[in-house]
Amino acid sequence: MVATPNVQVGEQGWSSRTAFILAAVGAAVGLGNIWRFPTLAGENGGGAFVLFYLGCVLLIGMPLMLSEFVVGRSGKSDAVQSVSRVAEQSGVSRRWRVFGGIEILAGFLILSFYSVVAGWVIYYVWLSGGDFLSNALAGEPLRGAFPDLGQDAVSGMMGDLFASPGRLILVHALFMAVTIWIVANGVHDGIEKAALWLMPAFFVLLVCITIYGAFTGDFGEALSFLFTPDFSKLTAPVMNEALGQAFFSLSLGAGGLITYGAYVGKDVNLGPTAATISLTDTAVALVAGLMIFPIVFAVGLDPSAGPALIFQSLPVAFQTMPGGSLIGLLFFVLIFFAALTSSISLLEGPTAWAMDRFGLSRPKAASLLGFVSFLIGIACALGYNVWADVRPLGFWSIFAETDILDTLDGFTGKIMLPLAGLLLALFVGWRADRRLVESQSGLSGGMFALWRFLVAWLCPVAVALILLFGLFPSLL
Ligand code: PHE
Repeated sequence: MVATPNVQVGEQGWSSRTAFILAAVGAAVGLGNIWRFPTLAGENGGGAFVLFYLGCVLLIGMPLMLSEFVVGRSGKSDAVQSVSRVAEQSGVSRRWRVFGGIEILAGFLILSFYSVVAGWVIYYVWLSGGDFLSNALAGEPLRGAFPDLGQDAVSGMMGDLFASPGRLILVHALFMAVTIWIVANGVHDGIEKAALWLMPAFFVLLVCITIYGAFTGDFGEALSFLFTPDFSKLTAPVMNEALGQAFFSLSLGAGGLITYGAYVGKDVNLGPTAATISLTDTAVALVAGLMIFPIVFAVGLDPSAGPALIFQSLPVAFQTMPGGSLIGLLFFVLIFFAALTSSISLLEGPTAWAMDRFGLSRPKAASLLGFVSFLIGIACALGYNVWADVRPLGFWSIFAETDILDTLDGFTGKIMLPLAGLLLALFVGWRADRRLVESQSGLSGGMFALWRFLVAWLCPVAVALILLFGLFPSLL
């Protein structure tokens, strides 16, 4: 069967290479960089974890990101249809499109809990915005945050939020609505515009707050915490965690990158572009650590406080630091921007698919899918209060203790993303037409050979091993 020309997705495109890079960096840089990476690194042996993570990014993440872009630009369609077309052009079974389907489903599921967490960020933007305003009106805009509250009240704000299903669902709804609105506006007027404004603002804030932390906080302690290697902590589960984090942070295996690749023009050299995006994402993760830990150490807080680090510990730190009220507000605005450009890419994958598959208009597809994803997210929000005892996959040892949100996070991050990545590597490395892949990759000679070796051999073997031992730790 000859594929019908794709009117819905194929006719859109980025207006420039810069727009594509900003949108893709926006997809990659998100909650994963700012609260997951620093905490994971801190808890798992600092420098040793960081080194292993860098290896995962360079040897697995970067080659796979290029593979996603190559599939997208060759197929010029949504993730499922793109794989299907590349398979057809390569004369192999179109059933490979299954991994395109896994990618889209993974992105869709990630969006549902991502939006819940981003909702917490909105809540904190609201709280710290109100705090800054009242300090400013009192003529003291540069004092510490929440001057009239005790420390317990400040660190208890997160508990208050979690205990209230109504508030959690409200902020989750708000975030999802903004995401839907941007995606419904299309590639040019929605996704690209958002990235063009939000990403530069993000980088300015990141640099400012990092400099602030370096001067007012304990930078030396942060450096040694993040970079002193303790190789004894680098166990198999920790390696699994690092690989999963690399996939999540680079947005691999979640449909967004294939879809973004479909909008890239012929003039863009994909190889160096994938490298730029991966390295930028990784640099942001490292800088985020150097932004957060000096502040944490300045007031002697526990660096391994997990996800609560950002929502519970940092506000306490902002309370005692000069200018804390303003910095606190800017800090949560920064995370909000990062989360938004990522959630857009999470919704764009399923949206493009529904437009192609069912001929839906973009606004309809985005609203419908966003709404269903919102409903799934409600279950995650209720998992902190009314359904606090629910363990959806409690029968499986690796999910025995995890609540609804963490289960969805773990299931997508530890299973779906690497599985899709494994199939992607096998497809691009072994089955897709070599000349097609070579011409799309923008690589030649030794670089092409190296990339192909990594995709065909290293990625499948490493990902398969890590998946196996991650899912069945008792094998070790
Ligand atoms: N990379 C994003 C982050 O680090 C999350 C994400 C995952 C976005 C998968 C798109 C696809 O927060």
